[in-house]
Amino acid sequence: MNLENKIVLVTGGSSGIGLAIAVKAKERGAEVLICGRNTERLNTASSKYNVKAYKCDVSDESQVVNMFEAIKNEFGKLDVLINNAGYGYFAMLDDIDAEKFTEVYKTNVLGAALCGREAAKIFKKQNYGNIVNIASTAALKGFAAGSPYVATKFALRGMSECWRAELRKFNVRVILINPSEVQTDFKINSGRAEAQFNPTKLIAGDIAHAVISALEMDDRGFIPELTVFATNPVD
Ligand SMILES: NC(=O)c1ccc[n+]([C@@H]2O[C@H](COP(=O)([O-])OP(=O)(O)OC[C@H]3O[C@@H](n4cnc5c(N)ncnc54)[C@H](OP(=O)(O)O)[C@@H]3O)[C@@H](O)[C@H]2O)c1
Repeated sequence: MNLENKIVLVTGGSSGIGLAIAVKAKERGAEVLICGRNTERLNTASSKYNVKAYKCDVSDESQVVNMFEAIKNEFGKLDVLINNAGYGYFAMLDDIDAEKFTEVYKTNVLGAALCGREAAKIFKKQNYGNIVNIASTAALKGFAAGSPYVATKFALRGMSECWRAELRKFNVRVILINPSEVQTDFKINSGRAEAQFNPTKLIAGDIAHAVISALEMDDRGFIPELTVFATNPVD
């Protein structure tokens, strides 16, 4: 697809990977819409990069429905949904907090499904659309203290397969992106210690590059899944 003048919604587009995707899509001439929960971060991104911001917690069904209503009213269509909003909750099995487990599932899984649902309604009517789900290498392989987060990303990967099976006949491409570690605020926002910048590890722009490249492939074809590793990360 050619992104020029396309309507692109990036959930969690106020920071990190989402913001980098928003900026790259904007550079390609797209009309970019972002959402998030924190107003200050949204306003900063919106004014700095000239993108439209919606305050929306994707885990809240009524907020998601209202955001899509607003998009339909203002733009009358949607070309791309980037399901990126998410965070990590990491705990050993014998330490799992049920409330925190449920909360991370509500954002990373239900939130993606709610946005996917509302986008699918538009895409089916248009007989066209694109969904990019930002999963993780945690969607491919488990690790110690990973079960709450890994569960959400395996779920997102599974949902992507279902959506593909439902939506391909409506010319909707469902693309799953699995970044390995990327240097963003993800670590701090997941309650872990901030690490020093490491030039050998991935940055948000690397993932944005992968997303935009996958989208820019001609609509005739699509890349179902793309995993991105740092070439030679040195600790
Ligand atoms: N960084 C990594 O190492 C890495 C690796 C693989 C996959 N990922 C995935 O990449 C995605 C983006 O992460 P990031 O690294 O860019 O982290 P980040 O810098 O913390 O960005 C997360 C974004 O999601 C938004 N968000 C979180 N919960 C939300 C909710 N309930 N509703 C709406 N927006 C919400 C945040 O804004 P507000 O807090 O203002 O809502 C923020 O804009 C996540 O899905 C993450 O799982 C990250």
